[in-house]
Amino acid sequence: MRSLIDITDFSVEELYELLSVASDIGEHPEKYSDACRGKKLATLFFEPSTRTRLSFEAAMLELGGSVVGFSDAGSSSASKGESMADTARVISCYADIMAIRHPLEGAPYVASQNATIPVINAGDGGHCHPTQTLADLLTIYRENGHFDNLTVGCCGDLKHGRTVHSLLAALTRYKNVKVVLISPKELQLPGYMKKEVLAKNGMSYVETESLEDAIPELDVLYMTRIQRERFDRAEDYNRLKDSYVLTAEKMKLAKESMRVLHPLPRVNEISVKVDDDPRAAYFRQALNGKYMRMALILKLLKDAENGVQMPEEKNILVDELFCDNDRCISFTEQEIPHKFKLVNDETGECRCLYCEAKKFR
Ligand code: NCD
Repeated sequence: MRSLIDITDFSVEELYELLSVASDIGEHPEKYSDACRGKKLATLFFEPSTRTRLSFEAAMLELGGSVVGFSDAGSSSASKGESMADTARVISCYADIMAIRHPLEGAPYVASQNATIPVINAGDGGHCHPTQTLADLLTIYRENGHFDNLTVGCCGDLKHGRTVHSLLAALTRYKNVKVVLISPKELQLPGYMKKEVLAKNGMSYVETESLEDAIPELDVLYMTRIQRERFDRAEDYNRLKDSYVLTAEKMKLAKESMRVLHPLPRVNEISVKVDDDPRAAYFRQALNGKYMRMALILKLLKDAENGVQMPEEKNILVDELFCDNDRCISFTEQEIPHKFKLVNDETGECRCLYCEAKKFR
């Protein structure tokens, strides 16, 4: 069964196909208004969300389908201790496709291993958020016209910000994209992202703490919120929460062609005075998210009808190493097989398939 767990589950060609269907949906929504008649989307939101959940629901309704689900973990059987695997099996009896947001890394992956319908990762902890990346890609494509040769600055909480992790993974596949990572030292991009995602794919990147220094060279500035809910200590959040504020003054340093993206919600990292600047693309980005989710639902339902399968996982060690990351679903839920992917034969370095934690064989 084809699911979307990680943005690289789709090839670059498939992403172009989604961009083209989403653009067509934006131009001719009436053509699609019956495309999912009789189909049901289940939205399982174990973590708060406004945009992602409502844009999924709006997407399915605008395709003529219907929606079931919950937006509060407390109202689901997970609060009684039901496992993700069981939840996925049960939901497969009631819906044709499901979107899951969960605080534990790897939860949607576990669901996809147990469901008999397509599963969409709508955000798993601080790990990844591929459907936000679909919205980001459509925005860059529409606003900048292309992906190759862009200089993209990602600013804010790059450690916990799952949207940045997925966006960077997607951008590695285009030509000559340069990345500027703008964050306080404590919130830098995780090491596995720099090593396994950027360096391994030959993507050039620089790290800086200064937004002012970086902004003049950027084609895209991707602002993010400091992720309060992922901090262990409130005092660390309070110290770092105002690290970056994009103001109209700072926008004067940027190119006329630069675009500002933000997955939203914004706290205070973009002044509302920037909203009227034509370069502020974040509200258009939210609309693009709905079009891309419509295109995604259509694609996954079609792939399911045609019996398309996920590619076979290679170099996987099952229950040979154990993940001890307390944010990983394989650590938290019993009876989930611990799976690691061998990434370096010589050193024996392995990565947890659910959360990317590093272990050596
Ligand atoms: C993002 C998320 O949930 O990771 N929001 C979203 O889906 N648009 C970004 C965030 O919460 O900061």
